[in-house]
Amino acid sequence: MRRFGFFAALMSLLLISVPAFAEPVVIKFSHVVAVDTPKGQAAEYFKKLVEERSKGEIKVEVYPNSSLYDDRAALEAITMNAVQMAAPSFSKFTTFVPQLELFDLPFLFNDNDHLHKVLNGEVGQKLLGMVGKKGMVGLAYWDNGFKQVSANKPLIKPEDAAGLKFRIMSSKVLEAQFKALNANPQVLPFSEVYSALQQKVVDACENPLSNFYTKKFYEVQSDLTMTNHGYLGYMVVTSKIFWKKLNDQQRALLTQAMKESTEYANKLAVELDLKYLADIKAAGTTKVHDLTLEQRQAWKNKLMPIYPEFYDSLGKDLIEGALAAGK
Ligand code: LMR
Repeated sequence: MRRFGFFAALMSLLLISVPAFAEPVVIKFSHVVAVDTPKGQAAEYFKKLVEERSKGEIKVEVYPNSSLYDDRAALEAITMNAVQMAAPSFSKFTTFVPQLELFDLPFLFNDNDHLHKVLNGEVGQKLLGMVGKKGMVGLAYWDNGFKQVSANKPLIKPEDAAGLKFRIMSSKVLEAQFKALNANPQVLPFSEVYSALQQKVVDACENPLSNFYTKKFYEVQSDLTMTNHGYLGYMVVTSKIFWKKLNDQQRALLTQAMKESTEYANKLAVELDLKYLADIKAAGTTKVHDLTLEQRQAWKNKLMPIYPEFYDSLGKDLIEGALAAGK
């Protein structure tokens, strides 16, 4: 009995003295898109860099295709440290930092250079700071690309969209955008878009080409118009609770891996946009329409007048700062 007691005490002492770092730090990274998208690939790349460099001390588990959370639930989970990383599109931050809807404003950016000036400049830094007050840490911005509109009829003039039910992400700006077209915006999680289109719950949507192709929207939309009217990008966030628990070395390793994954994501966003345009055309089920400069100007004329509606909620300075960066 006595010997057994001594043995048990020795065992528990040994267990207690096993160093804390023997258990790997686990990062659950939740996202909603397919693996073969810029976000999906960049998340895998981040995993690879982190696991190699930490020599197993940090493990990254990537959950694509809304398999763990849809975007809005993911953000709540981040604030509670139930999931450690996510990269939702800006529109999904609406209940936390509505100012991120700035990026939903139609025709705000001339091109990627303009966009990156804003993201990497004062406006982008200010927005990262705002997220920091909401139980998260903003780590990076990842591109997907510019959005195109699709439906089961050609959308060439802005008037062609009138009366159609458009799936939107939860964003007041996107709601106003489709109302300006006399269309009916309906908020739906990304995971439900395909079936909503198939069952004609909605008629139309807006997506960057990688999402359109990898979620097979070409099976349920006969026409796609290259409007390039709005940007779709992501803020990669981590849980503040999680971030604070890490040591300086771990934070430095993750920060560097994120920097490299961001370069990777943004390069892929450009490459995959071209690849998926070719793939959509090759699928042969969706007609792709290009717009002339005049036709595109007509969409601008219809949509840009919504800006003043958002001077109060987004901040006139934020909108003007973003526009000024393109001059
Ligand atoms: C959407 O809901 O359409 C996008 O936010 C999906 C994504 O993450 O690209």
